[in-house]
Amino acid sequence: MNLSTIILAAGQGTRMKSKKPKVLHQVAGLPLVEHVVRLSEQVSDGQPIVVIGHGADEVQENLKHLKVSFVLQKEQLGTGHAVMMARDFIEKESSVLILYGDTPLIREETILEFLKKHKANDNQLSVLSMRLEDPAGYGRILRGDDSRLSGIIEHKDADENQRGIDEVNSGIYLINGESLLTHIDEIENNNVQKEFYLTDIVEIFAHQGYNVDAYCVDDSQEMLGINTRVQLAQAESVFRERISQHWMIEGVTIIDPENTYIEPDVTIGPDSIIYPGTMLRGRTIIGRDCRIGPRAVIENSKINDGVHIRESQVIDSSIDDNTVVGPYAYIRPGSEIGKSVKIGDFVEIKKSQIGDGTKISHLTYVGDAQVGKSVNLGCGVVFVNYDGVKKSRTEIGDRSFIGCNVNLIAPVTVAEDAYVAAGTTVTKSVPRDSLAIGREKQRNIEGWVSRKRGKR
Ligand code: UD1
Ligand code: CA
Repeated sequence: MNLSTIILAAGQGTRMKSKKPKVLHQVAGLPLVEHVVRLSEQVSDGQPIVVIGHGADEVQENLKHLKVSFVLQKEQLGTGHAVMMARDFIEKESSVLILYGDTPLIREETILEFLKKHKANDNQLSVLSMRLEDPAGYGRILRGDDSRLSGIIEHKDADENQRGIDEVNSGIYLINGESLLTHIDEIENNNVQKEFYLTDIVEIFAHQGYNVDAYCVDDSQEMLGINTRVQLAQAESVFRERISQHWMIEGVTIIDPENTYIEPDVTIGPDSIIYPGTMLRGRTIIGRDCRIGPRAVIENSKINDGVHIRESQVIDSSIDDNTVVGPYAYIRPGSEIGKSVKIGDFVEIKKSQIGDGTKISHLTYVGDAQVGKSVNLGCGVVFVNYDGVKKSRTEIGDRSFIGCNVNLIAPVTVAEDAYVAAGTTVTKSVPRDSLAIGREKQRNIEGWVSRKRGKR
């Protein structure tokens, strides 16, 4: 059986009080709707169809990296109307899974289980339901004398009796493609909200004598739809817990999971320890036996085994085995740091390669450079890479020693086994095995201080 997915994402999301379309708000570093697209990739074949409306251009622009087909619903005339707009994408031979773009917490297992029941009972339509202590606002599940699903009534259209029902519609359906195509246009808008309700398809199918049923999920938290920033934070916390638990089970120590932020595409090797306040973002890979944090931010970076990063930021870079970074270092995009390197406090590195065993212990800026192995950069070295117009490169050979407070005016090369004396401004290349020293000769003027003080 083919399965295709329609994701409804045209609504405005007024209660977010945002200029941004609701489905673009992020949890765990991804737009709400991207979580739903990923779910659909896990469970179905082909590209999901995303129905967009409010902020359609912005949504499309922000999702252009995803393999999805967009359908425009110009006016939001209801969930049934949204599915009508996707009509041309619905195939007779396939089953259609309907999801909402603002419901990011549903797990793959839940949909697979749902699909299994749908198939086993040979249903034309199945809906996932849930029991809520406070069902207000939701569509209520109506069941006939045989306790089978007979319809769904929206809260606003329900009578007192019906409002007493605590089993509600989650908004997730599996529907036979051919039957859906045959009957979708029978949905009307004669209800309190004057909307075309997708929920009406249930009663239409039931009248046809089709097999329809509702399956109640145990964990209604998964069905949380995001309407407000409060729910956005709730969803974030659910993701945080799920992701941390996953990595703890895989052998990672997370000291304080509540205060550790790991995005879904990150991987972490066993026996690594993640300290509080750390954010691991994007496609970051952390090796084994690492110590990360407290308060490290690492984005799209590859950190090999045994690395220790304290209170520092690493963006779009790689760090090899047993290197130590921080506190307060800033590793900017395009940096490749070797093995057993020491990068200390207030060091900034940009688009540079640093060889194995090199030490950059404090207060140094390295930009657009190739630094060799076992090099020592003293305190306050500045790679002067920008002349106001263009960026230039600097090369430092293996085992060279750059003294404190040296300026290296790029483009410039210091060969291997060379020394640059403290305070030197290097404007021309330094050959191997030599000392570069460029500073005023010091004079001492004796008695100068007491003479000056005496005058006062
Ligand atoms: C809907 C269901 C209700 C269910 C609830 C679960 C209907 C009529 N009601 O109600 O039974 O309990 O979800 O959350 O379906 N959308 C569009 N185009 C539209 C209207 C909505 O794309 O014209 C999208 C929205 O962006 C949203 C989803 O469909 O992602 C649900 O719409 P919403 O208006 O929130 O439906 P509810 O009234 O909550
Ligand atoms: Ca809703």
